[in-house]
Amino acid sequence: MEQSLLGLSGKVALVTGGAAGIGRGCAMMLARAGCNIAIADLDKKGAEKTAREIHGMARRSAAVEVDVRKPESIAKMLEETVKALGRLDICINNVGGLTGHRPTAFLDATPAFFEDVINNNLRATYWCCHAEAKSFIARGVGGSIINISSLAGIRAVQGLSPYGAAKAGIINLTQNLALELAPYGIRVNAIAPATTGTEKMTERMAKGDFKAVEEANPMKRLASPEDMGGAAVYLASALASYVTGHTIVVDGGVSLTTPRPAP
Ligand SMILES: NC(=O)c1ccc[n+]([C@@H]2O[C@H](COP(=O)([O-])OP(=O)(O)OC[C@H]3O[C@@H](n4cnc5c(N)ncnc54)[C@H](O)[C@@H]3O)[C@@H](O)[C@H]2O)c1
Repeated sequence: MEQSLLGLSGKVALVTGGAAGIGRGCAMMLARAGCNIAIADLDKKGAEKTAREIHGMARRSAAVEVDVRKPESIAKMLEETVKALGRLDICINNVGGLTGHRPTAFLDATPAFFEDVINNNLRATYWCCHAEAKSFIARGVGGSIINISSLAGIRAVQGLSPYGAAKAGIINLTQNLALELAPYGIRVNAIAPATTGTEKMTERMAKGDFKAVEEANPMKRLASPEDMGGAAVYLASALASYVTGHTIVVDGGVSLTTPRPAP
Protein backbone atom coordinates (compact mmCIF):
# COMPACT_ATOMS: atom_id res chain seq x y z
CA MET A 1 0.00 0.00 0.00
CA GLU A 2 1.17 3.51 -0.73
CA GLN A 3 2.60 5.07 2.41
CA SER A 4 0.98 8.39 1.46
CA LEU A 5 -2.47 6.79 1.81
CA LEU A 6 -1.65 5.79 5.39
CA GLY A 7 -0.24 9.22 6.23
CA LEU A 8 2.18 7.69 8.74
CA SER A 9 5.49 8.65 7.17
CA GLY A 10 7.63 10.56 9.71
CA LYS A 11 5.02 10.31 12.48
CA VAL A 12 6.22 9.24 15.93
CA ALA A 13 4.58 6.30 17.69
CA LEU A 14 5.19 5.36 21.32
CA VAL A 15 4.55 1.74 22.33
CA THR A 16 4.40 0.82 26.02
CA GLY A 17 5.61 -2.73 26.63
CA GLY A 18 7.12 -2.55 23.14
CA ALA A 19 10.19 -4.64 23.94
CA ALA A 20 8.36 -7.95 23.43
CA GLY A 21 5.16 -9.68 22.34
CA ILE A 22 2.21 -7.74 20.94
CA GLY A 23 3.85 -4.38 21.68
CA ARG A 24 6.88 -5.37 19.63
CA GLY A 25 4.58 -6.57 16.80
CA CYS A 26 2.79 -3.19 16.81
CA ALA A 27 6.11 -1.31 16.85
CA MET A 28 7.50 -3.31 13.90
CA MET A 29 4.37 -2.88 11.78
CA LEU A 30 4.16 0.87 12.53
CA ALA A 31 7.85 1.21 11.60
CA ARG A 32 7.19 -0.64 8.32
CA ALA A 33 4.33 1.81 7.67
CA GLY A 34 6.72 4.78 7.99
CA CYS A 35 6.69 5.74 11.70
CA ASN A 36 9.63 6.53 13.95
CA ILE A 37 9.23 4.60 17.19
CA ALA A 38 9.77 4.99 20.92
CA ILE A 39 9.88 1.66 22.74
CA ALA A 40 8.90 2.23 26.39
CA ASP A 41 9.35 -0.71 28.70
CA LEU A 42 10.24 -1.80 32.21
CA ASP A 43 12.86 -3.99 30.54
CA LYS A 44 15.42 -1.37 29.42
CA LYS A 45 17.71 -3.89 27.71
CA GLY A 46 14.78 -5.42 25.79
CA ALA A 47 13.61 -1.95 24.77
CA GLU A 48 17.10 -1.09 23.50
CA LYS A 49 17.25 -4.32 21.49
CA THR A 50 13.89 -3.68 19.77
CA ALA A 51 14.81 -0.01 19.21
CA ARG A 52 18.05 -1.13 17.50
CA GLU A 53 16.09 -3.44 15.18
CA ILE A 54 13.82 -0.53 14.23
CA HIS A 55 16.85 1.66 13.61
CA GLY A 56 18.03 -1.08 11.24
CA MET A 57 14.82 -0.53 9.23
CA ALA A 58 16.01 3.04 8.47
CA ARG A 59 13.68 4.59 11.03
CA ARG A 60 14.52 6.75 14.02
CA SER A 61 13.95 5.03 17.35
CA ALA A 62 14.42 5.51 21.07
CA ALA A 63 14.36 3.20 24.07
CA VAL A 64 12.70 4.66 27.16
CA GLU A 65 12.58 3.01 30.57
CA VAL A 66 9.13 3.22 32.19
CA ASP A 67 6.96 1.65 34.82
CA VAL A 68 3.42 2.44 33.66
CA ARG A 69 2.07 1.73 37.16
CA LYS A 70 3.69 5.02 38.26
CA PRO A 71 2.22 8.32 36.99
CA GLU A 72 5.55 10.18 37.45
CA SER A 73 7.29 7.55 35.31
CA ILE A 74 4.60 7.95 32.59
CA ALA A 75 5.17 11.73 32.54
CA LYS A 76 8.94 11.20 32.18
CA MET A 77 8.37 8.68 29.35
CA LEU A 78 6.41 11.26 27.34
CA GLU A 79 8.98 14.00 27.94
CA GLU A 80 11.86 11.72 26.93
CA THR A 81 10.04 10.57 23.78
CA VAL A 82 9.32 14.10 22.53
CA LYS A 83 12.89 15.13 23.38
CA ALA A 84 14.46 12.15 21.58
CA LEU A 85 12.22 12.01 18.49
CA GLY A 86 10.97 15.60 18.21
CA ARG A 87 7.22 14.91 18.26
CA LEU A 88 4.62 12.37 19.35
CA ASP A 89 1.54 11.46 17.30
CA ILE A 90 0.47 7.92 18.22
CA CYS A 91 0.41 6.17 21.61
CA ILE A 92 -0.13 2.43 21.92
CA ASN A 93 -0.99 1.56 25.53
CA ASN A 94 -0.11 -2.09 25.44
CA VAL A 95 1.24 -3.07 28.88
CA GLY A 96 -0.99 -5.56 30.65
CA GLY A 97 -1.48 -9.21 31.36
CA LEU A 98 -1.66 -11.33 34.47
CA THR A 99 1.48 -9.80 36.08
CA GLY A 100 2.90 -13.19 37.04
CA HIS A 101 -0.34 -14.58 38.53
CA ARG A 102 -1.87 -17.84 37.37
CA PRO A 103 -5.52 -17.90 36.25
CA THR A 104 -7.44 -18.25 39.53
CA ALA A 105 -11.07 -19.19 40.24
CA PHE A 106 -13.14 -16.24 41.52
CA LEU A 107 -13.78 -17.95 44.87
CA ASP A 108 -10.02 -18.38 45.41
CA ALA A 109 -9.09 -14.83 44.34
CA THR A 110 -6.75 -12.88 46.65
CA PRO A 111 -6.44 -9.08 47.05
CA ALA A 112 -3.01 -9.27 45.36
CA PHE A 113 -4.44 -11.04 42.29
CA PHE A 114 -7.18 -8.41 41.93
CA GLU A 115 -5.02 -5.37 42.65
CA ASP A 116 -1.96 -6.35 40.57
CA VAL A 117 -4.09 -7.16 37.54
CA ILE A 118 -6.28 -4.05 37.81
CA ASN A 119 -3.20 -1.84 38.37
CA ASN A 120 -1.17 -3.14 35.43
CA ASN A 121 -4.10 -3.15 33.01
CA LEU A 122 -6.94 -0.67 33.74
CA ARG A 123 -5.20 1.76 36.09
CA ALA A 124 -2.00 1.98 34.00
CA THR A 125 -3.98 2.48 30.79
CA TYR A 126 -6.14 5.18 32.42
CA TRP A 127 -3.16 7.27 33.55
CA CYS A 128 -1.22 6.71 30.32
CA CYS A 129 -4.23 8.02 28.35
CA HIS A 130 -4.52 10.97 30.76
CA ALA A 131 -0.87 12.03 30.38
CA GLU A 132 -0.86 11.38 26.62
CA ALA A 133 -3.99 13.49 26.04
CA LYS A 134 -2.48 16.32 28.11
CA SER A 135 0.76 16.07 26.10
CA PHE A 136 -1.11 16.28 22.76
CA ILE A 137 -3.18 19.24 23.97
CA ALA A 138 -0.17 21.10 25.47
CA ARG A 139 1.70 20.75 22.16
CA GLY A 140 -1.39 21.92 20.23
CA VAL A 141 -1.56 18.78 18.11
CA GLY A 142 -4.12 16.04 17.59
CA GLY A 143 -3.22 12.41 17.96
CA SER A 144 -4.24 8.79 18.05
CA ILE A 145 -4.40 6.68 21.20
CA ILE A 146 -4.77 2.90 20.86
CA ASN A 147 -5.41 0.78 23.94
CA ILE A 148 -4.80 -2.96 24.03
CA SER A 149 -7.80 -4.74 25.53
CA SER A 150 -8.52 -8.47 25.08
CA LEU A 151 -11.19 -10.85 23.88
CA ALA A 152 -11.37 -11.70 27.60
CA GLY A 153 -12.84 -8.21 28.08
CA ILE A 154 -15.75 -9.16 25.83
CA ARG A 155 -16.48 -12.72 26.88
CA ALA A 156 -15.84 -14.58 30.11
CA VAL A 157 -12.82 -16.83 30.47
CA GLN A 158 -12.48 -19.24 33.40
CA GLY A 159 -10.09 -17.95 36.08
CA LEU A 160 -9.60 -14.48 34.59
CA SER A 161 -12.22 -12.40 36.46
CA PRO A 162 -10.05 -9.34 37.35
CA TYR A 163 -8.33 -9.46 33.95
CA GLY A 164 -11.66 -9.63 32.08
CA ALA A 165 -13.08 -6.80 34.20
CA ALA A 166 -9.98 -4.65 33.59
CA LYS A 167 -10.04 -5.30 29.85
CA ALA A 168 -13.81 -4.59 29.67
CA GLY A 169 -13.04 -1.39 31.59
CA ILE A 170 -10.48 -0.45 28.93
CA ILE A 171 -13.14 -0.84 26.21
CA ASN A 172 -15.51 1.48 28.08
CA LEU A 173 -12.69 3.90 28.92
CA THR A 174 -11.85 4.02 25.21
CA GLN A 175 -15.44 5.06 24.40
CA ASN A 176 -15.54 7.73 27.12
CA LEU A 177 -12.21 9.22 26.09
CA ALA A 178 -13.17 9.19 22.40
CA LEU A 179 -16.19 11.32 23.32
CA GLU A 180 -14.30 13.76 25.55
CA LEU A 181 -11.17 14.11 23.42
CA ALA A 182 -12.71 14.35 19.92
CA PRO A 183 -12.93 18.18 20.20
CA TYR A 184 -9.12 18.22 20.58
CA GLY A 185 -8.54 16.13 17.45
CA ILE A 186 -7.58 13.09 19.51
CA ARG A 187 -8.98 9.73 18.42
CA VAL A 188 -9.10 6.87 20.93
CA ASN A 189 -9.59 3.26 19.85
CA ALA A 190 -8.77 -0.21 21.15
CA ILE A 191 -7.74 -3.63 19.91
CA ALA A 192 -9.06 -6.83 21.48
CA PRO A 193 -6.66 -9.68 20.66
CA ALA A 194 -7.44 -13.36 21.02
CA THR A 195 -4.67 -15.68 22.26
CA THR A 196 -1.54 -14.49 20.50
CA GLY A 197 1.62 -16.49 19.87
CA THR A 198 4.04 -14.17 21.65
CA GLU A 199 7.42 -15.46 22.83
CA LYS A 200 6.10 -15.71 26.40
CA MET A 201 2.78 -17.34 25.48
CA THR A 202 4.50 -19.91 23.27
CA GLU A 203 6.90 -20.74 26.10
CA ARG A 204 4.08 -20.99 28.67
CA MET A 205 1.64 -23.11 26.71
CA ALA A 206 2.10 -26.84 26.70
CA LYS A 207 2.18 -28.41 23.22
CA GLY A 208 -1.30 -29.92 23.76
CA ASP A 209 -2.83 -26.55 24.81
CA PHE A 210 -1.27 -24.91 21.79
CA LYS A 211 -2.82 -27.43 19.40
CA ALA A 212 -6.24 -27.16 21.12
CA VAL A 213 -6.27 -23.35 20.80
CA GLU A 214 -5.30 -23.57 17.13
CA GLU A 215 -7.88 -26.26 16.48
CA ALA A 216 -10.68 -24.24 18.15
CA ASN A 217 -10.01 -21.25 15.89
CA PRO A 218 -11.84 -21.10 12.54
CA MET A 219 -8.53 -20.07 10.93
CA LYS A 220 -6.71 -22.97 12.59
CA ARG A 221 -3.83 -20.86 13.82
CA LEU A 222 -2.91 -18.63 16.72
CA ALA A 223 -2.79 -14.87 16.18
CA SER A 224 0.66 -13.36 15.66
CA PRO A 225 1.88 -10.11 17.24
CA GLU A 226 1.99 -8.69 13.69
CA ASP A 227 -1.76 -9.41 13.27
CA MET A 228 -2.30 -6.93 16.13
CA GLY A 229 0.23 -4.58 14.51
CA GLY A 230 -1.88 -4.58 11.34
CA ALA A 231 -4.91 -3.35 13.29
CA ALA A 232 -2.73 -0.73 15.02
CA VAL A 233 -1.46 0.57 11.66
CA TYR A 234 -5.03 0.91 10.40
CA LEU A 235 -6.30 2.68 13.54
CA ALA A 236 -3.29 5.03 13.62
CA SER A 237 -3.50 5.84 9.92
CA ALA A 238 -5.31 8.48 7.90
CA LEU A 239 -7.57 5.67 6.66
CA ALA A 240 -9.19 5.68 10.13
CA SER A 241 -9.40 9.47 10.50
CA TYR A 242 -13.18 9.30 11.20
CA VAL A 243 -12.97 6.22 13.45
CA THR A 244 -12.99 6.77 17.20
CA GLY A 245 -14.31 4.95 20.26
CA HIS A 246 -14.11 1.52 18.62
CA THR A 247 -12.59 -1.76 19.64
CA ILE A 248 -11.40 -3.96 16.79
CA VAL A 249 -11.59 -7.64 17.68
CA VAL A 250 -8.66 -9.47 16.08
CA ASP A 251 -9.39 -13.12 16.73
CA GLY A 252 -9.52 -15.16 13.52
CA GLY A 253 -13.27 -15.51 14.09
CA VAL A 254 -13.02 -17.47 17.35
CA SER A 255 -15.61 -15.25 19.07
CA LEU A 256 -18.14 -16.45 16.49
CA THR A 257 -17.86 -20.00 17.79
CA THR A 258 -19.52 -21.61 20.82
CA PRO A 259 -17.02 -22.90 23.38
CA ARG A 260 -17.20 -26.69 23.48
CA PRO A 261 -17.49 -28.44 26.83
CA ALA A 262 -14.49 -30.55 27.76
CA PRO A 263 -14.99 -34.14 26.49
N1 LIG B 1 -0.60 -12.63 24.41
C1 LIG B 1 -1.90 -12.82 24.35
O1 LIG B 1 -2.41 -13.91 24.05
C2 LIG B 1 -2.84 -11.66 24.62
C3 LIG B 1 -4.21 -11.81 24.30
C4 LIG B 1 -5.07 -10.74 24.54
C5 LIG B 1 -4.59 -9.54 25.05
N2 LIG B 1 -3.26 -9.43 25.36
C6 LIG B 1 -2.81 -8.14 25.90
O2 LIG B 1 -1.79 -7.63 25.05
C7 LIG B 1 -0.88 -6.85 25.82
C8 LIG B 1 0.55 -7.35 25.60
O3 LIG B 1 0.59 -8.71 26.01
P1 LIG B 1 1.80 -9.67 25.61
O4 LIG B 1 1.28 -11.04 25.75
O5 LIG B 1 2.42 -9.22 24.34
O6 LIG B 1 2.81 -9.38 26.83
P2 LIG B 1 4.35 -9.80 27.04
O7 LIG B 1 4.41 -10.26 28.46
O8 LIG B 1 4.83 -10.68 25.96
O9 LIG B 1 5.10 -8.39 26.93
C9 LIG B 1 4.78 -7.36 27.82
C10 LIG B 1 5.85 -6.29 27.78
O10 LIG B 1 5.47 -5.29 28.74
C11 LIG B 1 6.56 -4.98 29.60
N3 LIG B 1 6.02 -4.56 30.90
C12 LIG B 1 5.41 -5.34 31.83
N4 LIG B 1 5.03 -4.59 32.89
C13 LIG B 1 5.40 -3.31 32.62
C14 LIG B 1 5.27 -2.07 33.31
N5 LIG B 1 4.69 -2.01 34.52
N6 LIG B 1 5.74 -0.95 32.73
C15 LIG B 1 6.34 -1.00 31.51
N7 LIG B 1 6.51 -2.15 30.80
C16 LIG B 1 6.03 -3.28 31.34
C17 LIG B 1 7.36 -6.27 29.67
O11 LIG B 1 8.72 -6.02 30.04
C18 LIG B 1 7.23 -6.81 28.22
O12 LIG B 1 8.23 -6.28 27.38
C19 LIG B 1 -1.36 -6.94 27.27
O13 LIG B 1 -2.16 -5.83 27.56
C20 LIG B 1 -2.18 -8.22 27.27
O14 LIG B 1 -3.14 -8.23 28.30
C21 LIG B 1 -2.38 -10.46 25.17
